[in-house]
Amino acid sequence: MKTQLEKLKDDAITAVKDLVSSPKLEELRIEYLGRKGKLASILKELPTLAVETRKEVGQFANEVKSAVELAFMEAEKAAQAIENESRIKSEWLDITAPGAEPEIGHLHLVTQAMEEVLHIFTRLGFSRSRHPEVEWGHYAFEALNVPKGHPARDEWETFFIAKDPENPEVAMYEDDNMAEMVLTPHTSNAQVREMEQSELPIRMININRTYRRQSDITHVPMFHQFEGLVIDKGITIADLKGTLDFFAQNFFGADRKTRLRPHHFRFTEPSFEIDITCDQCKGEGKIDGLKCRTCKEGWLELGGAGMVHPNVLQAGGVDPEEYSGFAFGWGVERTLMMKSGINVGDIRVLYKNDLRFLKQF
Ligand code: DAH
Repeated sequence: MKTQLEKLKDDAITAVKDLVSSPKLEELRIEYLGRKGKLASILKELPTLAVETRKEVGQFANEVKSAVELAFMEAEKAAQAIENESRIKSEWLDITAPGAEPEIGHLHLVTQAMEEVLHIFTRLGFSRSRHPEVEWGHYAFEALNVPKGHPARDEWETFFIAKDPENPEVAMYEDDNMAEMVLTPHTSNAQVREMEQSELPIRMININRTYRRQSDITHVPMFHQFEGLVIDKGITIADLKGTLDFFAQNFFGADRKTRLRPHHFRFTEPSFEIDITCDQCKGEGKIDGLKCRTCKEGWLELGGAGMVHPNVLQAGGVDPEEYSGFAFGWGVERTLMMKSGINVGDIRVLYKNDLRFLKQF
């Protein structure tokens, strides 16, 4: 039996040395030292020995058990050390190494254009004001001399806010004065709001989102406009013309000129459309004897303007006998596209959020 135990000890120690990975070591430990393991099965015979020998063999068996246990403990330690080392290697981190650099974006080109517009008018003493884009019909139309049912309203393809989401055809009405709510189709809603809120004189620039039911290569349903309003004593068309020239030269280039072409708007009298000399033909209408393909006649249309109508001044609580003013307003996107060097064939590309396009500006 002693020889058996001796052999078990040698076998176990050699087997342990061959193994390094911890889970297999555990299996081996059970195989030798477990309750039904090899040592236990040899010791089952112990009671059959004579008392004297039993004592001696018993003692020897304990020594064998301790030696084998020790071998397992050492192997366990060695395996742990190997595992630690490999973890240290794989999880090593150089905290002094430079980090992954985040990509730095920039403002959308429409936002850039709005900031530029604002900056130009700020230099003339205008200050930016903000007015609602979800607006009462009163400020979007009635106060601007465009009464309910007037055919001029058709020019603003308006989105109406429904009172009852279950019944979207029914526009929202305020109970007492039957006012409807709209997504403002132009920034002109700011005119009467500004007169109501501000002290005179006024030099306002309102840049905001505007909405119309339209979508094609030159229109998007959500776009931006900027609206200027100046009210003071003795304001004339000359002030309007000077302001527009200053803008055109600063935004488009020192060689650009504007002209006022008579037009009709309900909220200005007289009213104009503002044209700017074409960048391609420099206002000639011809390039090398051929008609300019961009403008055909030397001028491009920018937007609307005029002297504020007395009814509009009155709607804002301003006395038209004492004060006069001018207003102008037009689209940021169109103005941006007219700026030389930026030629996007389809205006909708501005809002597709394709980074390959946006990163160019
Ligand atoms: N609000 C007009 C539009 O969107 C443009 C406009 C015309 C604004 C004349 C003005 C103005 O301030 O005086 O069609």
